[in-house]
Amino acid sequence: MKVLTVVGARPQFIKAGPVSLALRAAGIVESVVHTGQHYDAAMSQVFFDELGLGAPDRNLEAGSGTHAEQTARMLVGLERTMLEYTMLEHQPDWVLLYGDTNSTLAGALAASKLCLPIAHVEAGLRSFDRRMPEEINRVLVDTLSARLFAPSAAAVRNLAAEGVSGARVEEVGDVMVDALLFYRERAKARSRILESLALVPGSYVLVTLHRAENTDDPERLANLLSGVARIAENHVVVWPVHPRARKALQTWPGAGQPAGLRLMEPVGYLDMTLLTASAAVVLTDSGGLQKEAFLHRVPCVTARDSTEWVETVELGWNRLAPPRSAARVVEAVEAAWGSTGEIGQPYGDGAAARRIAESLLRY
Ligand code: UD1
Ligand code: UDP
Repeated sequence: MKVLTVVGARPQFIKAGPVSLALRAAGIVESVVHTGQHYDAAMSQVFFDELGLGAPDRNLEAGSGTHAEQTARMLVGLERTMLEYTMLEHQPDWVLLYGDTNSTLAGALAASKLCLPIAHVEAGLRSFDRRMPEEINRVLVDTLSARLFAPSAAAVRNLAAEGVSGARVEEVGDVMVDALLFYRERAKARSRILESLALVPGSYVLVTLHRAENTDDPERLANLLSGVARIAENHVVVWPVHPRARKALQTWPGAGQPAGLRLMEPVGYLDMTLLTASAAVVLTDSGGLQKEAFLHRVPCVTARDSTEWVETVELGWNRLAPPRSAARVVEAVEAAWGSTGEIGQPYGDGAAARRIAESLLRY
């Protein structure tokens, strides 16, 4: 069996790690196409190096742009690549897609027009907010997919509510749980991030922000930045800065002023795993990081109006704090500090990747 995997953005490299290993173990031949959506070494290469993924077979170098520009470049490259694979008698039995980025959407559009069957990892997630580009991508990709690998029971219910059920949908668990379990020991053995930043476990706030709804809305961004500055007056704040937030920070008068603020380039997955596990609170608008905080039993404040990872909120480990004011952000972080939630396992047992490989072989 041949699988063509399409990845392009940071979280997809991490999700593809355990799945690639499981495909290999199942005797499936995988080719990996990188759309080039993320291209900085700290957003891309580091993950291939750390996670033992091997270099991608192709990099389409689509790069950044408006949604239309970026998706269109990927579409052209992906269609050409898929046709080449088909002509070289490497026609994929499955095109494997992850999550909800523009790379995922381009992969789904290119594959479906060539009648190549699509398997979607992280199917069924919904924020019910169509202002988010990711929500549009998810809905479209799920519609076009032949196999829908849902990470949770809630995702299965979302699909059922849209009339999608039966054998096409499979609750396999979340591949990020697999990644965490698989790479956790490697992170402990190899990462020196806590020592190099002189961080005391349980004493700092870990921040990441990159959602367009926050970085591209001047009011929300200002609230977030002054909220973070105020938190950094009392606590150490560690913030690996996503490139989308980089520009905003360059012109931010508060950068570097509060005593506790540690701004840095994005870090690799192994460093990030230790930073998350040892944080007192995570403040983020990342989907993946909300879930990782939950898995590490670290309280999280999510600077968004909604979340797809509803179980993290229901179980008490995550609270939504839309950045409508700086005070709201500060209060939410202070309230989260030292709080706990219920123990639960809504995202599976860490065997999602194996189930995905078995399912692809079975169908
Ligand atoms: C994308 C995904 C988002 C995901 C995030 C993961 C879409 C619509 N959004 O958002 O769902 O949560 O990836 O991190 O697909 N840039 C660089 N270097 C890079 C990559 C980006 O400088 O290596 C800068 C560029 O100025 C670019 C901006 O960051 O315009 C945004 O990058 P883009 O890939 O369009 O979206 P993300 O915000 O990363
Ligand atoms: N991550 C990382 N280094 C960083 C920030 C995040 O390795 O500097 C990891 C994080 O641990 C998680 C994933 O990147 O596994 C989440 O990606 P991101 O926040 O970019 O995207 P999202 O999950 O919101 O789509």
